[in-house]
Amino acid sequence: MSFDPARLRAEFPILARTVHGQSLHYLDNGATAQMPRAVLERIVRHESESRANVLRGVHALAEAATEAFEAARATLARYIGAGNADEVVFTNGTTSAINLVAHGFGNNLAAGDEVVVSALEHHSNIVPWQMLRDRRGVVLKVLPVTAEGRIDMTALERVIGPRCRLVAITHCSNVTGAITDVGRIAAAARAVGAALLLDGAQVVPHGPVDVAALGADFYAFSGHKMYGPNGIGVLWGRRERLAAMAPLLGGGEMIRSVSFAETTYADAPHRFEAGTPPIAQAVGMAAAAEWILAQDREGWAAHERRLTGRILDGLALRDGVRVIGPLGLQGRAPVVSFAVAGAHPHDICEVLDQSHGVALRGGHHCAQPLMELLGVSGTTRASLGPYNDDGDVDALLRGLDHALQLLRR
Ligand SMILES: Cc1ncc(COP(=O)(O)O)c(C=O)c1O
Repeated sequence: MSFDPARLRAEFPILARTVHGQSLHYLDNGATAQMPRAVLERIVRHESESRANVLRGVHALAEAATEAFEAARATLARYIGAGNADEVVFTNGTTSAINLVAHGFGNNLAAGDEVVVSALEHHSNIVPWQMLRDRRGVVLKVLPVTAEGRIDMTALERVIGPRCRLVAITHCSNVTGAITDVGRIAAAARAVGAALLLDGAQVVPHGPVDVAALGADFYAFSGHKMYGPNGIGVLWGRRERLAAMAPLLGGGEMIRSVSFAETTYADAPHRFEAGTPPIAQAVGMAAAAEWILAQDREGWAAHERRLTGRILDGLALRDGVRVIGPLGLQGRAPVVSFAVAGAHPHDICEVLDQSHGVALRGGHHCAQPLMELLGVSGTTRASLGPYNDDGDVDALLRGLDHALQLLRR
């Protein structure tokens, strides 16, 4: 099996479309990646052949739907190295996975207990903890970042103290692309008996992970960033951690028994999946994981790395363009943010979209505290997938030159 980006690109029907009369250069994979035909077809097949509600049905379609749903759980458990599929809770995405922990784990905390995040976090790993702080008097502490856009490891001992109960950090920044050195943070959390939650939204799209080896207690990620559908995500939690958590939502499917006097809850994962779950989405997310596993991932990583290097080199050559994040390829994902003196990211994105067919993201990327720290109002971000090619990078750099010419006059 060898890596052939052109063959792989042909698996994504949407990449054949044009935008504003030009070829599409899709470089917004960090926000939402596209779905290959294998995933699209799996969803259609499920909806065409096995659509029904799950768990309680006693007919053929309900059994087929339940089987597909639980098989999807098992596939995703394998994808992240979970020992047991019961540790995989289906959620709507990374955001709802983190909220689930902020509620269930958070409600076991007392006033004065500490939760540690980093200054790199996406709002979805900040706001749930602020809500917990307001609810329970928990103290929220923040690990600083280095000038390179990485978590500052020299601050670990100072920030992660004896009252720390949870360290909740990103496995990879959606702004700087920096991949977190989890080992050191896991050791610091373990040293004070704190749990570790990793936001894996920007990591799982690039290949499987091993949650046990990472030393995590919770791992959150989204389907739509890993070539699967939206409206689906996963919270992985160690069995004993999930067992100690109260559910966030109450309703059907999450109970053991209900009476007006008393209701008892099912065990994880169903305890956290009240109501009809996103069934076809779960099936599609598992198909996406299988699709990733079937690729030549070494070739894929080398390809994304080479293109990331081309973008970084290209940006370095342009006056007034500052890369926000590591300048080298070591320990970084193919997510490249940059700021341009005298030009707003939204304007840059608009020129690239309308005149060059390049889809980028511009703004604060749901990381306003980081923007403030970096002294920028926003950045322009290019984020790669395996289907991107040299033509996409050429279009990005050509479009950027055009934008610089127009906007900095
Ligand atoms: C690092 C990170 N965390 C969390 C999220 C939120 O993911 P979702 O909107 O799928 O819940 C994102 C999405 O951009 C992200 O990049």
